[in-house]
Amino acid sequence: MEVVIVPDARTGGELIADAIAALLRRKPDALLGVATGSTPLPVYQALAAKVADGAVDASRARICQLDEYVGLPPGHPESYRSVVLREVVEPLGLPASSFMGPDGSAEDVQAACEAYDAALGVAGGVDLQLLGIGTDGHIGFNEPCSSLASRTRIKTLTEQTRRDNARFFDSLDEVPHHVITQGIGTILDARHLVLLATGEGKAQAVADTVEGPVASVVPASALQLHPHATVVVDEAAASKLR
Ligand code: F6R
Repeated sequence: MEVVIVPDARTGGELIADAIAALLRRKPDALLGVATGSTPLPVYQALAAKVADGAVDASRARICQLDEYVGLPPGHPESYRSVVLREVVEPLGLPASSFMGPDGSAEDVQAACEAYDAALGVAGGVDLQLLGIGTDGHIGFNEPCSSLASRTRIKTLTEQTRRDNARFFDSLDEVPHHVITQGIGTILDARHLVLLATGEGKAQAVADTVEGPVASVVPASALQLHPHATVVVDEAAASKLR
């Protein structure tokens, strides 16, 4: 695992956008796995700026979601499908057909999870998966004690994560209790994992991920098992590293 400490979130975003641009030059139709939440936004903004100024051609890029709320009505502005369309797909000028995600409104959620894992395989696997990290060490929505071998499935959000995500909704009551998330095993199938963490609130989770034992109680520690994992942290998020 490579750990890169940057001065601030903007620099982290630039660095990761550079890595994505380099990947797209090598493999124009690369499959990019994207996370939602606040942390990756500087990456998407930096990448969109590179596309706008012609530094990279992303027109053949393919995008896939990491997770999705269960039970939000289709088109809800905070469904992760809507967020990824708004923050990634549209700014990159990609058609909606370039983008795949699990169906959080499916009647048979289990079948939707299996279909999504299968679709990722048919698409040739994820080339670069961008990850954020929860204050409790979750990646995707694999909360503490998730199996390190897990595949895409339905999970219950912890109250801590629901509270953390309430800022995107009008009230805590509106935050769904369930999500579909790529499993840790699914995430580890990606060829390159890039985790971005910024701010002091992530410092303990980062220290546990990078320096702690590999343990399901800190799901992100599974990155230690991956042959090509990069952790990009600002100085605040790095503050508890030894
Ligand atoms: C969401 C996801 C989550 C977030 C994490 C951190 O797709 O993958 O693991 O990355 O909850 O969220 P922020 O970045 O908002 O602190």
